[in-house]
Amino acid sequence: MERLREIEKPLLKWYRQNKRALPWRVEKDPYEIWISEIMCQQTRVEVVKDYFERFLEALPTVRDLAECPEERLMKLWEGLGYYNRVRNMQKAAQQVMGLYGGQLPADYEALKGLKGIGDYTAGAIAAIAYGIPVPAVDGNVLRVVSRVLESREDIARQSVRRQIGQKIQAVMPTDCPGDYDQALMELGALICLPGAQAKCGQCPLKGICLAAAHGTAAKLPVKTRSKPRRIEERTVLVIQDGDCVAIRKRAAKGLLAGLYELPNVKGHLKEEETLSWVREMGLGPLRIRPLGEAKHIFSHVEWRMRGYQIRVQQLDERRQGDMIFARAEEVQEKYAIPSAFDAFIRKG
Ligand code: ADE
Ligand code: SF4
Repeated sequence: MERLREIEKPLLKWYRQNKRALPWRVEKDPYEIWISEIMCQQTRVEVVKDYFERFLEALPTVRDLAECPEERLMKLWEGLGYYNRVRNMQKAAQQVMGLYGGQLPADYEALKGLKGIGDYTAGAIAAIAYGIPVPAVDGNVLRVVSRVLESREDIARQSVRRQIGQKIQAVMPTDCPGDYDQALMELGALICLPGAQAKCGQCPLKGICLAAAHGTAAKLPVKTRSKPRRIEERTVLVIQDGDCVAIRKRAAKGLLAGLYELPNVKGHLKEEETLSWVREMGLGPLRIRPLGEAKHIFSHVEWRMRGYQIRVQQLDERRQGDMIFARAEEVQEKYAIPSAFDAFIRKG
């Protein structure tokens, strides 16, 4: 693939002049690279920085991660989403303790044998931390390569992703694979933006890129949409007695397993229906105030939420059925509440 071979020099030159200063780019420590790459799969790099610093301070080694109590781990991940990813990270950390004495293996296949580490994350750790020439193909890389080659193949397909990985593998430098992989990601994140936002005029690859030459960048890559999300209506309650708010623990299986939440019920309830529900829970509602609507998008489901703030009679017990009444500072410190509830937590 001669065209792809030509990108190396301008791409690396651009990267070395334009790369963002990111905390995990300093040491190239395999544990740090691992944590940062998993976090980057969830959210934007700018947001990851803060989470990364906090996580590393709390759990500086593989052993600390392997041994961290679950509720503390969830709290460290709070707001990042896809909580199973951090549970898998902990399982992988336990594997690394048992199998490799706490040191992530410097071997692509061995890395892929760890829980939650797939082609992309194994590639990133191997290349960036250990200098092993393997590709790390994320969405940004798929977009850049599809455009440079003006490929109309569907990047939703695993086989197409694998082929793009093989093409990169065939042309990537062996002396700086970590820079090369990150340069492709960085170009996708800063210049080769999705849709009509691509900044071809500022791109170091514009003389090589076929999509730029033919004006097809905005239409590439081709990605078929997975099936639409199920829409679920819910009513979310901010139930307060004095300075405490009611929360409860979610089931151990399914969406947001094991996290804490504001009490909520299926459907959009009216004020009267909500008050009845609150009474059925054994609470004495005094006032109700609508908090408006909010939505939250998960990977397979979308919540359309309606919120109410409800003041209830002072309780003697901090636990009431499956509800815990906690002070705001306690929630801050101890209980991980997913960001789906943020809109109502702030208003409550
Ligand atoms: N996105 C995820 N990981 C990245 C990295 N190492 N460099 C640039 N962008 C990224
Ligand atoms: Fe992307 Fe445009 Fe650069 Fe091609 S020239 S790689 S489409 S930004």
